[in-house]
Amino acid sequence: MKITVIGTGYVGLVSAVCFAELGHEVMGVDIDEAKVAKLKQGISPIYEPELPELLKRNLDAGRIRFTTDLAEALPNSKVVFSAVATPPNEDFSADLKAVFIVAESVAALADHDIVFVNKSTVPVGTGKRCEELIQKKLQERGVDFAIPVVSNPEFLREGHAVHDTMQPDRIVVGINGNNEAKELMEEMYRPLTRATKPIVWMQRESAEIVKYASNAFLANKISFINMMSELCEATGGNVRDIARGMGMDDRIGPRFLHAGIGYGGSCFPKDVKALIALSRETGVALPLVQATHDINQHQRERYFKKILDALPSNATVAIWGLSFKPRTDDMREAPSLDLLPMLTAAGHSVRAHDPIAMENAKAIVGDGIEWIEKMMDSARDADAVVVLTEWDEFRGADFKKLKEVMKGNLLFDGRNIYDPAEVEEVGLTYYGIGL
Ligand SMILES: NC(=O)c1ccc[n+]([C@@H]2O[C@H](COP(=O)([O-])OP(=O)(O)OC[C@H]3O[C@@H](n4cnc5c(N)ncnc54)[C@H](O)[C@@H]3O)[C@@H](O)[C@H]2O)c1
Repeated sequence: MKITVIGTGYVGLVSAVCFAELGHEVMGVDIDEAKVAKLKQGISPIYEPELPELLKRNLDAGRIRFTTDLAEALPNSKVVFSAVATPPNEDFSADLKAVFIVAESVAALADHDIVFVNKSTVPVGTGKRCEELIQKKLQERGVDFAIPVVSNPEFLREGHAVHDTMQPDRIVVGINGNNEAKELMEEMYRPLTRATKPIVWMQRESAEIVKYASNAFLANKISFINMMSELCEATGGNVRDIARGMGMDDRIGPRFLHAGIGYGGSCFPKDVKALIALSRETGVALPLVQATHDINQHQRERYFKKILDALPSNATVAIWGLSFKPRTDDMREAPSLDLLPMLTAAGHSVRAHDPIAMENAKAIVGDGIEWIEKMMDSARDADAVVVLTEWDEFRGADFKKLKEVMKGNLLFDGRNIYDPAEVEEVGLTYYGIGL
């Protein structure tokens, strides 16, 4: 089937490449010319494990092509996916400008019936608004193509995106009573549904809410254990033991129960914020969601305060980890973006290292930071090391060597990945969370 994917970012590119791998003929469209130029050469503009091989294979096989021109992509496309970003506005609501532009552009250029699929995370009601915009544009043009709007929210995790797309836990599709669209979605996903899970069909409004509900629930689990971490610090408990003791209960499960400096990234913070905005807009109280956000902010702030309070003046601080989580170069809402300027403003020198995200971090943070290629080099002569991302290479740090190269002895483990006893055995002072 011929498919167009608009927006070739973390979601759109992975989806497009995986659809091609499943045998579809795919056009990837993006307004970012530099991105499209790279993609045409088979270079992935983002870091995502397994993606480069898949991209190359499908380009070579001619199953995927990229363009900046939607008009070139649309002819014969039966399904058009919109996977543009929906970042948070100042007032926490989701910025839907790109989604609406894409819906209108498809209606402006369509020359046949198309199923328009929202893959972006959008507040409930957005599908309806897209449908209205599309109808208006078609009427202006005096044409009557059928362009139903379907919701197919994406659940992939950066760092595992290819796996999650090829072996999804679930495929949620929200359609308001259009059988042809339903059949096309079924046909499109058949290579996956044959082998794995069936599609979970629902109303479009429900599909839009499922995505936010899932992310808010996971973020809530993180905030819950972070809330307990503060109680542990005040009372002598150990949050790792709390998490183990809770997580062994099948009804709770161990995942997303790791205390740390809180969640970041391009999804949890913005989706929690968008739900808070939706609560305001609809008048429906969502106190758990507000609390999830507040606890996350508080957790980050109180740990950063702990770091700033413990540092000697004019300290040299090594930062291990810049991306918001391991296995990605995504810097959106990464804790490092808050901490780095706080450290430099307090007169400290920062030597930052990340295995993958350094270029992206440099582009955002710019001057005033030393960017160090190797983890141990960044710790040389440092008064303190701060772990902000739990990359595997940090997990196996040689503490003896670390103590030798450092000038000072402070180790801040913002992700609770180390055993305090092992760290302290070599003469380092350990600062974890909830221990
Ligand atoms: N990143 C994730 O892990 C993830 C997971 C699930 C869902 N989502 C959701 O998917 C959506 C996309 O997220 P992302 O992380 O891939 O964003 P992204 O910023 O990485 O990618 C968006 C892309 O869309 C392009 N774009 C913007 N306007 C365009 C237009 N008019 N025409 C063509 N291209 C255009 C941008 O240039 C960019 O390449 C968001 O709603 C997000 O919440 C993201």
